[in-house]
This record gives sequence, structure tokens and C-alpha cells, in this order.
Amino acid sequence: MRRVVVASRNRHKVVEIGALLADLGFELVPIDDVAPGTALVEDDPTFEENAIAKATQAAAATGLPALGDDSGLEVDALGGAPGVRSARYAGDPCDDGRNNTKLLGALAGVPAELRTARYRCAAAFVDPAGGAPVVRSGACEGVILEAPRGAGGFGYDPLFLVPSLGKTMAEIELSEKNRLSHRAAAFRALDAALRGSHAG
Ligand code: IMP
Repeated sequence: MRRVVVASRNRHKVVEIGALLADLGFELVPIDDVAPGTALVEDDPTFEENAIAKATQAAAATGLPALGDDSGLEVDALGGAPGVRSARYAGDPCDDGRNNTKLLGALAGVPAELRTARYRCAAAFVDPAGGAPVVRSGACEGVILEAPRGAGGFGYDPLFLVPSLGKTMAEIELSEKNRLSHRAAAFRALDAALRGSHAG
């Protein structure tokens, strides 16, 4: 097994990524288990750059190969906002309730057919032993409702309708979300890329 550090403080994410990369022979370790308190700065303008930045910081702090990801919501009627600022859309600290309230306000009066949006995720692998970072992206298309529905998920999930299911991300089982999510798409694509090169 190859030890790979995950540049995230969210242990649920580490488990989720482990399931998505199950066959690569990686032993995933959260950053705080090997280099507690490492700063993971993500202030770049794109998801891809932020994913690479987080993985690079984790690799530099530990000397281990590292995985990083960055994700958020792009709303077409808002020119792609909140985008890379999704977590802190309504200001610091991150507050899902305030973010959702701000999003509904920003979309007030926008008709259903113009409320299209997508979750996006970039997943990156950085190897301190050399080689260029490998980064892949995934997306999940949806529509922003006028009122929240459902109690599951997190973030913008109660407002994010998946049209093919007629349900919000907060109304579907976690296993189903993990099948169709932006994060799953990004890590599956990264998995395929690493099979073709680094992981070999
Ligand atoms: P990060 O990629 O962990 O930095 O997450 C960025 C932010 O994007 C989160 O705080 C949420 O606001 C939003 N976000 C990313 N993925 C999801 C998701 O699957 N559901 C709901 N919100 C999400």
C-alpha cells in the first residue's frame, strides 16, 4: 500500500475519497494525522488551482504524495457565483444557512427555467518525488429551487434540485449522492488518469 495524505480536515471526505479510489492501492491518511495544523490555503480563482494548491501544501508538509480537492456551486444567472467562494458566500465563518438565504435573495424573481446551476469539483494528485500535478474535474447539473427541501446532505443541497430524480440533493440517499455527485465524477476521472500513469 502506498501512503497518500489527503489535504482535508473533513474525515467524511477522506472516507468518501477512499471508496472512490478503492482499487489504486492507496492507504489514505488525513493531513491532521501526519502534519497537524498544516495551513491549507485555497485562494486561487479556479477549483483546479485550489485543488492543486491544497495537495501541494500537504505534500510539502509531509513528504508524501497528496490528494486535494476543491468544490462549489456555479449558478448561471449569477455569472457562475458563488463558485470558488461557495463556502464563505455570506461571509466568514462558513454558514450553510446564511449562504442559502443569500442565494435565494440573489435569485429572487428569477424564473425556474433560468435557475440552472451545477456543482463542480476538481481533484488533484501531487507527488513530491516528481512529475506534474494530475488534476481532473467533475460536475453535477441541477436547478436552484425557491425554497429548501429535505434534511440530508450539507451546504446548498436543500436548494439543489436534480431534475432527473425530481429530488433535491438533501432528499436522496447518501449512497445515491455519492454515485452522481461532482466529487465522485472528479475522483473517478482522477482514478482513471492515475491508473494510466503514476499509480501503475
Ligand atoms: P470545499 O470543497 O470542501 O472547500 O467546499 C466548498 C463549499 O462548496 C462547501 O462549503 C459548500 O458550500 C459547497 N459544496 C461543495 N460540495 C457540495 C455538495 O456536495 N453539497 C452542497 N454544497 C457543496
